[in-house]
Amino acid sequence: MRTYIVGNWKLNFTVGEASIYLHKLLKKMPNYRDIEVVVAPSTIALQPLSLQIDRHKMKLSAQNAFYRDYGAFTGETSFTQLRGIVDYCIIGHSERRYIFSESDKVVSKKVAAAIRNKITPILCIGETESERAFGETKDVIKDQLIGGLSEIGDDDIDKIIVAYEPVWAISSTKSSKLAAPDEIADAVKLIREILSEVYGKKVAESVPVLFGGSVNPSNAGAYLTVPGVNGLLIGGSSLILSEFTDIIEIAKRVHA
Ligand code: PGA
Repeated sequence: MRTYIVGNWKLNFTVGEASIYLHKLLKKMPNYRDIEVVVAPSTIALQPLSLQIDRHKMKLSAQNAFYRDYGAFTGETSFTQLRGIVDYCIIGHSERRYIFSESDKVVSKKVAAAIRNKITPILCIGETESERAFGETKDVIKDQLIGGLSEIGDDDIDKIIVAYEPVWAISSTKSSKLAAPDEIADAVKLIREILSEVYGKKVAESVPVLFGGSVNPSNAGAYLTVPGVNGLLIGGSSLILSEFTDIIEIAKRVHA
């Protein structure tokens, strides 16, 4: 399986800044066929960057989109509008769930809309700090995974990517808040067990599972060697060109 390195730029970079960053990244980056490099700029930058990107080297992802294709939904952008512009869309990121109140129901409709529009959903799941403290990690992972996939049929399950992002480990500046490799291994094992129960063993083994939460060049190697982890979803460190390209090089070395 390929290794996925996905940079989530969140609400950062103007269109001009995003274009300059992409230009430098494309110049610096070799074409690694076994590493799928993806960047997720703000919606406003997607169309211009889609004209600039070299799709042999990397792909574009949206950070969010609405689940209806057209209609009276002021302010929204649909997967239909993004079709042909992006290859991926991050769905159910914890910032969407907790700042914008997205439920599993909404997340599931977005996953279905992405697939309907030939865009690969990167379904984010993960427990908060208090859910972990109360011993609810397994239930949260199960509910968010089964809930998020509830609107797609068995035929489409091989079109998704899952990202395990424990909320307590996102944007952390403290080493005490970093996820330990064995904590990630347990969660990824659980994700594959749930997929196996619901969709069968073959699917459970073939769905890529990424890890995200304060990934940087000094921990990327350790996270990429966690059993069952097929890639990384990177926020802060993906905004710094040298760090992002270092992580891509680490992925290449680990993959070899
Ligand atoms: P971070 O963000 O790498 O800055 O922790 C990851 C994410 O939110 O996807």
